[in-house]
Amino acid sequence: MKEISLCVMTRELCHKLFQGWENDPAIYMDKDQFTAYHYEEAAVDRYFEAKQEPSRVLLAIMKEGEPIGEIQLKQINREKRECTLSIHMQNDAVKGRGYGACAERLAVQYAFDVLGMAAVNADTIVKNTRSQHVLEKVGFQFVKEENGFRYYRYEQ
Ligand SMILES: CC(C)(COP(=O)(O)OP(=O)(O)OC[C@H]1O[C@@H](n2cnc3c(N)ncnc32)[C@H](O)[C@@H]1OP(=O)(O)O)[C@@H](O)C(=O)NCCC(=O)NCCS
Repeated sequence: MKEISLCVMTRELCHKLFQGWENDPAIYMDKDQFTAYHYEEAAVDRYFEAKQEPSRVLLAIMKEGEPIGEIQLKQINREKRECTLSIHMQNDAVKGRGYGACAERLAVQYAFDVLGMAAVNADTIVKNTRSQHVLEKVGFQFVKEENGFRYYRYEQ
């Protein structure tokens, strides 16, 4: 396991994360939607507050005491015992070092052990082959491709 861990995101960690944030063009279906990220304190507060809801857990990916990315377990359905994972590393400096794959493994474990889920879903836009590769490497199974998205699922 790489030297990273997950913890529940706090407001303070969220600010630290976004102070070093870069948007990634890979997540935009239309490349014209991509814009450079600029930190704004009030916008991060609004973001953090919007994520505090019962069907979502916002996790910080931590390395050496600093946040290097975020993982969300969202659309938590306690009856069906499934949720959806999304992940975004902080910037290019922390990508491609194995941290994303490690964080996804930890998040799946968190979903099973802490949230009591039986399955975790994920989706990526078709062109995001890096994300697809990482999901498959971690053990997600490809489900279908539809409307420009590829859907994956990890069952306990
Ligand atoms: C997707 C993301 C979470 C992966 O995290 P990461 O730390 O960069 O990934 P890792 O270093 O663990 O693994 C990268 C793997 O992708 C491979 N890879 C890199 N670019 C690739 C590409 N264009 N196509 C396919 N595979 C690619 C690497 O070779 C590596 O695989 P390997 O370990 O088998 O050699 C991260 O890159 C990220 O935050 N991207 C922007 C946001 C995003 O795309 N989120 C997912 C939205 S659904």
